Amino acid sequence: MGRATKVVLAYSGGVDTSVCIPYLKNEWGVEEVITLAADLGQGEDLEPVRQKALNSGASESLVIDAVEPFVKNYGYPAIQANALYENRYPLATALGRPLIAKLLVDTAEKYGADAIAHGCTGKGNDQVRFDVAAAGLNPKLKILAPAREWGMSREETIAYGEKYGIPSPVKKSSPYSIDKNLLGMAIEAGVLEDPWEEAPEDVFEMTKAIADTPDEPEYVEIGFEKGLPVSLNGEAMDPVALITKLNQLAGSHGVGRIDMVENRLVGIKSREIYESPAMLVLIHAHRDLEGLTLTGDVSRYKRGIEDTYTQLVYNGLWYSPLKAALDAFIVQTQDVVTGSVRVKLFKGSAAIVGRKSENSLYSFDLATYGAEDEFDHKAAEGFIYIWGLPTRVWSGKMKG
Ligand code: ARG
Repeated sequence: MGRATKVVLAYSGGVDTSVCIPYLKNEWGVEEVITLAADLGQGEDLEPVRQKALNSGASESLVIDAVEPFVKNYGYPAIQANALYENRYPLATALGRPLIAKLLVDTAEKYGADAIAHGCTGKGNDQVRFDVAAAGLNPKLKILAPAREWGMSREETIAYGEKYGIPSPVKKSSPYSIDKNLLGMAIEAGVLEDPWEEAPEDVFEMTKAIADTPDEPEYVEIGFEKGLPVSLNGEAMDPVALITKLNQLAGSHGVGRIDMVENRLVGIKSREIYESPAMLVLIHAHRDLEGLTLTGDVSRYKRGIEDTYTQLVYNGLWYSPLKAALDAFIVQTQDVVTGSVRVKLFKGSAAIVGRKSENSLYSFDLATYGAEDEFDHKAAEGFIYIWGLPTRVWSGKMKG
């Protein structure tokens, strides 16, 4: 008896996921491997990937275009949540995993498979995200992770593949481990494993080096409706078009690079280089518009919710009751977050320089230092007396 009969494998076309195919069949007694490559806007032609799976022994090789649901159902809600892991990383990879898991589970159900599989190792966050998401969606499916168990080195993996007709990588493969989708790119390994070493310029794909950016600033006006980006410079755009365009605009000004040491769920600190131009700009702009439209107490409370939300998405709990409950809170707050934000892109910075909204809570008459001032200055005295009363009582007792 094998570990499973029919398996749907998350497939990228790389050595590891290719070797998973013969490995599952020959070592783990799987009869049929169906591969699934998801297009999340990584900008790669997936037809050769589809072919490669068949050449590697897959009985069926599926390519699913999921860019639109990815941006709309995973990326956009993360903007409403201002989701930045450890205050910096816009979660591009972490948002892609639950969608890929959903595609795997849906496909397994459709084809009557009894397991899903992926090529993650045992050191990363992605294995957790796949496994927990799949469990949340269909607890009956088995989850197989050959690369977590096979204990082969890179060379051994390549040699194993060659035995089964999987060509070893033609070009000298990149020293980096890269994950890319429309929301951003994550780069690890190689020289980056030394956190003191500056990332070489050639790791960057979505952003220009500051030396190569325009010498004039460029302004972009982002329109939001109920907390979701809907237009750029007055032109209505669907989520995919908007992110694509803003990636290019912001990236051309060198905006969107992140270099950080982050804490993985499995306890390891890792040095990460990210590029995520559109998401970074959108989250900063969205947060600013909330400053104009939410009351101070909602804003404050929401910050705690955002932190929990971000942590939970990073940690693979996308399909969980807590996530659903936080979503309800966040969506409720977004009713009034409609308006426009003006962003100045220049030499690697995206500065918010203006914001307006039909739901603005900003009152000129209250805020102005000019003659129109309507604020009752005398009222402040009584307020301060009561506000400071506990301090006054305490100080009288201790220091009187
Ligand atoms: N550290 C990031 C995360 O956990 C990115 C992981 C990228 N994965 C990769 N295979 N390079 O979301």
